[in-house]
Amino acid sequence: MPREGTAVEVKQLRKSFGAQRVLSGINLKVAYGETLTVLGRSGTGKSVLLKLIVGLQTPDSGSVTIDGQDIAGLSPRDLNEVRKAIGFLFQHAALYDSLSVEDNVGFPLQRHTSMSASERKERVAQLLRQVGMEEHGRKMPAQISGGMQKRVALARALALEPRILLFDEPTTGLDPITASGIDELILQVQKRQGNASIVVTHDLHSARTISDRLILVLEGQAVAEGSYDELKQSQDEFVSRFMAQAA
Ligand SMILES: Nc1ncnc2c1ncn2[C@@H]1O[C@H](COP(=O)(O)OP(=O)(O)O)[C@@H](O)[C@H]1O
Ligand SMILES: [Mg+2]
Repeated sequence: MPREGTAVEVKQLRKSFGAQRVLSGINLKVAYGETLTVLGRSGTGKSVLLKLIVGLQTPDSGSVTIDGQDIAGLSPRDLNEVRKAIGFLFQHAALYDSLSVEDNVGFPLQRHTSMSASERKERVAQLLRQVGMEEHGRKMPAQISGGMQKRVALARALALEPRILLFDEPTTGLDPITASGIDELILQVQKRQGNASIVVTHDLHSARTISDRLILVLEGQAVAEGSYDELKQSQDEFVSRFMAQAA
């Protein structure tokens, strides 16, 4: 499986819901080894963008290419294969409430691999260790904090060793210390695995820590692209106002 070159390319992607135009020709590219952050105000279509990239929703026009393959042309079976290569940390409903922490993490293994119960148990323990949650496997999601839930969701997103990672607001709603812990984990995973990662966030501190490159989305299009410092120094009024939220 390729782990170099362009992992994800989005070209002229458009998506409306009824009369509401959400994405109006967005472009982006992310390579293996690179973390791209997508910034933008609430309701600008960032979550929709990630769902289009994994094929959970279909665009009105434009294309999503994963490892050089346009996903629109794939059979359901091939699309499923592509999805297995992508770890997705959802913005909401990150965990299954009725499953324990360890069963949440083991779920993709049970569903998509032929691992035996004991192999699965071992892999789950390893994943939980990786996110510092090895003591909490038997707990239910309601019994752990929001930050711990995000860690578990991250462990679950990593279960199938995806080469592409999509994170939808991984630190939103967390206190700064917990948020830094999540950033640290994202960096560690990135360093170890050389993934292509796309992170949607409002958290400029986090964006500065984890991103190689950022895009800023306004009215369904990417209006700026660059490193954190480049965006921070932008002369564009919207970009500089957005970036001024940062401390
Ligand atoms: N399945 C859907 N049906 C109708 N409208 C949707 C759907 N998903 C998202 N939207 C609308 O698209 C817009 C962008 O949503 P979203 O991508 O969640 O924004 P954000 O940038 O905050 O993640 C919102 O106005 C939302 O209400
Ligand atoms: Mg969102």
